[in-house]
Amino acid sequence: MTTAPETLDFTLADPALWADGPAAKELEYLRKHQPLSWHPEPPTEWFPEGGRGFWSLVRHEDVQAASKDQETFSSGLGTEMIDMPLEMTRVYGGMLNMTGDEHARHRAIVSRVFTPRTLGQLAPRIQAHAQRCISRIKDLAEFDFMEDLVGDFPAQIICDLMGVPAEDRPELIRRTGIALAGNGTAESYETMKQIVDYARGLATAAEGGVSEEAGLLKKLIEAEVDGQRLSNEEVGIFLALLLTAGIETTATSIGQGFLAMSLYPEQRKTWASNFDALAPKAVEELVRWVTPVMHFRRTATRDVELHGQTIREGDKVILWYTSANRDATVFEDPERLDFARESASPHVAFGGGGPHFCLGAQLARLEISIFFKELFQALPNVAVSGDPVRLHSNFVNGLAHLPCVTQRS
Ligand code: HEM
Repeated sequence: MTTAPETLDFTLADPALWADGPAAKELEYLRKHQPLSWHPEPPTEWFPEGGRGFWSLVRHEDVQAASKDQETFSSGLGTEMIDMPLEMTRVYGGMLNMTGDEHARHRAIVSRVFTPRTLGQLAPRIQAHAQRCISRIKDLAEFDFMEDLVGDFPAQIICDLMGVPAEDRPELIRRTGIALAGNGTAESYETMKQIVDYARGLATAAEGGVSEEAGLLKKLIEAEVDGQRLSNEEVGIFLALLLTAGIETTATSIGQGFLAMSLYPEQRKTWASNFDALAPKAVEELVRWVTPVMHFRRTATRDVELHGQTIREGDKVILWYTSANRDATVFEDPERLDFARESASPHVAFGGGGPHFCLGAQLARLEISIFFKELFQALPNVAVSGDPVRLHSNFVNGLAHLPCVTQRS
């Protein structure tokens, strides 16, 4: 038997709940008492138009189950909390906002190109970018971890991957910042379209084989599945997705990850003393602890009975990764950062499994690992020296600033 949704005295759409970090108290309450809950979307500073409300899934097993069931919980009508016209969701998310055969075709084509081998070949360039970023701060007594140190690290790697000429990079990176910050505003949408246009131009140029740098791009254009290729427009949208999906996420993992290690210094010490052996587990635990992407949305394709309530066809359903990764039934003492953690199930920071699982997970792991290896080697005494300034968002768990010092021994 289903019941009417129980009313809560808060909504996860309220920006105030996310001012000091993920809405930890509210999410814990929901995990314990209301694993499926309804949240109205009144007009806010973030979304002045408001919205039609959404369901929230907060437990690890529910987030995993919904992630694996695209037929019921579809990505095809958008994965952002706010509703957007379909055309707009395509420009913003490309394959992220597709489903079924259309998604499978895109995924099959890009997976042919985005292989572990290709990523392995990128490792020396990732290392060079990490060293370049570290050299910027090595003579500074005080610096901002986010702006001065991490800076353009992830963005330059995506630009390498796409074969973006050096002279175009600063402007492209600037525009990506505007597109990401705008949350669907007219300015952000126009900027996103400019990025897609630019990337389509790169694809067209790569077709002629003009640039040696554009190796991956050329492969992407030529890759075929069942006799079909991606159009240059589709390649453009995919490249724009790489930029938006691959920059803030990785920068957040590194910045918030470093902050986490300053709260758990013994973990940092243990990792630094045995870096390579511990790296796979440490990186995974950092990504779980931080959970850079706090949610994505699905849309129900039929009526679903769950936890005694009915999700109606067409309703929005938010998968709260940030909550699932603090689920104490899966992660013992989930607030603790623990590089030796054995958990009952994998974390869901890259998604809960299923067809949309993060395509860049391997690249992100490589970037995080190489960055910390270079940092620990070059400047072992870097330390947090002031209060972090968070990005105010319920989507990316990011940091705007993190004051640090280099303590010389
Ligand atoms: C720590 C860093 C990262 C995190 C936490 C992250 C997280 C995610 C999540 C949660 C999803 C959606 C999964 C789902 O809906 O089931 C996703 C999808 C995706 N990510 Fe990442 N991501 C990261 C880094 C990257 C990087 C570096 C790239 C690219 C270079 C990337 C490219 C993508 C793409 C293309 C998709 C869409 C896949 C699809 O729809 O089939 N991500 N990511």
